[in-house]
Amino acid sequence: MSSFNLDTLVRPNILTLEPYRCARDDFKEGILLDANENAYGPSLTDLSQYESTLELNRYPDPHQLELKQKIVDFRNGENKYEISKNEQITPENLCLGVGSDESIDALIRTVCVPGKDKLLIAPPTYGMYSISSTINDVEIVKVPLDFEKFQIQPDLINEILSKDSSIKLVYITTPGNPTGASVDFSLIEKVLSNPNWNGLVVADEAYVDFAPIGSSLSTLVEKYPNLVVLQTVSKSFGLAGIRLGITFANKRLSSILNALKAPYNISSLTSDIASRSLSPEGIKLMRQRVEILNSERSRLWESLQKFKNIGKLIGGLDANFLLIEVIDENGKPSSPLAKQFYEKLATTKGVVVRYRGGEPGCSGGLRITVGTKEENDALSERFQVVAKEL
Ligand SMILES: Cc1ncc(COP(=O)(O)O)c(C=O)c1O
Repeated sequence: MSSFNLDTLVRPNILTLEPYRCARDDFKEGILLDANENAYGPSLTDLSQYESTLELNRYPDPHQLELKQKIVDFRNGENKYEISKNEQITPENLCLGVGSDESIDALIRTVCVPGKDKLLIAPPTYGMYSISSTINDVEIVKVPLDFEKFQIQPDLINEILSKDSSIKLVYITTPGNPTGASVDFSLIEKVLSNPNWNGLVVADEAYVDFAPIGSSLSTLVEKYPNLVVLQTVSKSFGLAGIRLGITFANKRLSSILNALKAPYNISSLTSDIASRSLSPEGIKLMRQRVEILNSERSRLWESLQKFKNIGKLIGGLDANFLLIEVIDENGKPSSPLAKQFYEKLATTKGVVVRYRGGEPGCSGGLRITVGTKEENDALSERFQVVAKEL
């Protein structure tokens, strides 16, 4: 049993925070002269009919309950875990952010006292956890993934957590970035049930829709009150430009996160587009595209693995990218060579991939996002050309 206690975990100033009361919280209709908006409307000479329906001169809805309901219905509909009726998630379990990057930062600000508390990450992992913790003056403790299957090491993590009560957060990326490998829930559960630690385990599921359907842990946040799940519409839904991230948390924590966020962080444009993408038709299209991208991922790997400079697939196949190993003429992974490929591809061949050879356990690593069929073919061809030139 975990010794989770939200009252002692959350920073006292955040726990007692009274959320900003918006003008529209009191009255929604009538002649609205309460929020210092501009009654004549947007200064746009070419406002489209669609844009005019969004009432862009008005502040957006700070609560976004309709959008949250759609997200909850979507995730409840694909849940594969056993949960009782009173553990089912509702819109009250959600806090929306300006991309999950905002959610990552908000969680740190909620539980970590600057200059005192710490957070734990499992490298190789997403870079924003470190950046956000540095900005917030929060020390980082690193417990690497195992470099065989890129799973967390729960026993080692628990040993460190049990000894250091100043660690307040554990960030786990599943599927991992840059690893592309999902982390087994049985391993995450071991950390969630650490009896000697009070903190939050955050599962960042930015890529979860590229893993088998039902992989998301988002429906488990009431069952495990110390579990937080982050998602984004930037990847599977193809909406990185609208900046929408979703935090799933137990209801009490979620109300604290909602009190902490800027009241109007989700714009009317973002809300409208996200809401449409979460319609049955939008979800169907997302699934179709994910299927195409996943089959392109296999095809791309089949074509790349034939090349003499490519060794093994370093990571897993649960995200919309491949983490491949560049090898030298002796068959050894070579980060300098990977870097040369990366640079030549970008500067002379117009194809930009990501060098990841400097990350722990990723020697010789290049992370390649799966593109359209044509883009993937272009990458394969140009990779071969570069191999000849180097
Ligand atoms: C693991 C992970 N989390 C979060 C993000 C950021 O997502 P968003 O676009 O919602 O800020 C990314 C983006 O690459 C990511 O790889």
